[in-house]
Amino acid sequence: MVSFPMEFKWVFLGISLMLVGLVSSSRFEELYQPSWATDHLTNEGEILRMKLDNLSGAGFSSKNKYMFGKVTVQIKLVEGDSAGTVTAFYMSSEGPTHNEFDFEFLGNTTGEPYSVQTNVYVNGVGNREQRLNLWFDPSNEFHSYSILWNQHRVVFLVDETPVRVHSNLEHKGIPFPKDQAMGVYSSIWNADDWATQGGRVKTDWSHAPFIASYRGFEIDGCECPATVAAAENSKRCSSSAEKRYWWDEPTMSELSLHQSHQLIWVRANHMVYDYCTDTARFPVAPVECQHHQHKTRN
Ligand SMILES: *[C@@H]1O[C@H](CO)[C@@H](O)[C@H](O)[C@H]1NC(C)=O
Ligand SMILES: *[C@@H]1O[C@H](CO)[C@@H](O)[C@H](O)[C@H]1NC(C)=O
Repeated sequence: MVSFPMEFKWVFLGISLMLVGLVSSSRFEELYQPSWATDHLTNEGEILRMKLDNLSGAGFSSKNKYMFGKVTVQIKLVEGDSAGTVTAFYMSSEGPTHNEFDFEFLGNTTGEPYSVQTNVYVNGVGNREQRLNLWFDPSNEFHSYSILWNQHRVVFLVDETPVRVHSNLEHKGIPFPKDQAMGVYSSIWNADDWATQGGRVKTDWSHAPFIASYRGFEIDGCECPATVAAAENSKRCSSSAEKRYWWDEPTMSELSLHQSHQLIWVRANHMVYDYCTDTARFPVAPVECQHHQHKTRN
């Protein structure tokens, strides 16, 4: 939707029963900009590549900040030996009490599986890691990774399969990230002190450069101009009598039955770590783990 001029938005608004929001796939430069080590990024039109070598990693960030909606990108991760490398795709707000929704792809030695770590920061505090091994090799082909965010939940999706749901439990007194606009970011860097097999396997620089490729950039969210006050953005980005955002539709507040089966399958077959069940780290389960249940829409 971000790439459509204002007139179009109103036309779509009219014909879509006041439902605001429209998925559009864009070129990298329409939505994003390089944010550091710009000489380690190459924009080849359809495909953007970022490399990590012994000099630097690289990163890009969205030009705008958003509240709610869905961000998607297709990534083909580092091929072959990716041990020690981390490629991240995430949303984050700014400041000491920032919120953050992370996908972190932890590399591995040739032939060993990549791990996908997700994390959620609320008011500056993370420590909510989950890890999975995927049902495919993410370095072979492009696959899509999405974050869906609304007032009810944050959903992490891999090829449209939900792999994690972080629900709004404010009614239980648990804070939920819903009042800070977020940017969208990606980066690749060396993290061989912890990333691969607990930090035991180091980056083999003779295999550099390590390259992650991107395409299919989509952001369908409510834009929050930096010139507009936070409270005003919050109001603009909430559905009201005049406008309804698609992510506020009742069907968006819970997983469908099919999706909840998919999530159960992922958790049973692919999850390798869940902070909620790490009793060594958390003798008392974190509060949201005691309440999180995956509600299903029939
Ligand atoms: C970095 O890599 C280049 C190319 O492989 C190599 O020539 C150079 O010596 C390396 N530098 C360091 C500090 O390891
Ligand atoms: C790497 O491969 C090892 C061995 O198969 C596995 O235990 C580990 O979870 C994989 N991922 C990372 C990030 O180390």
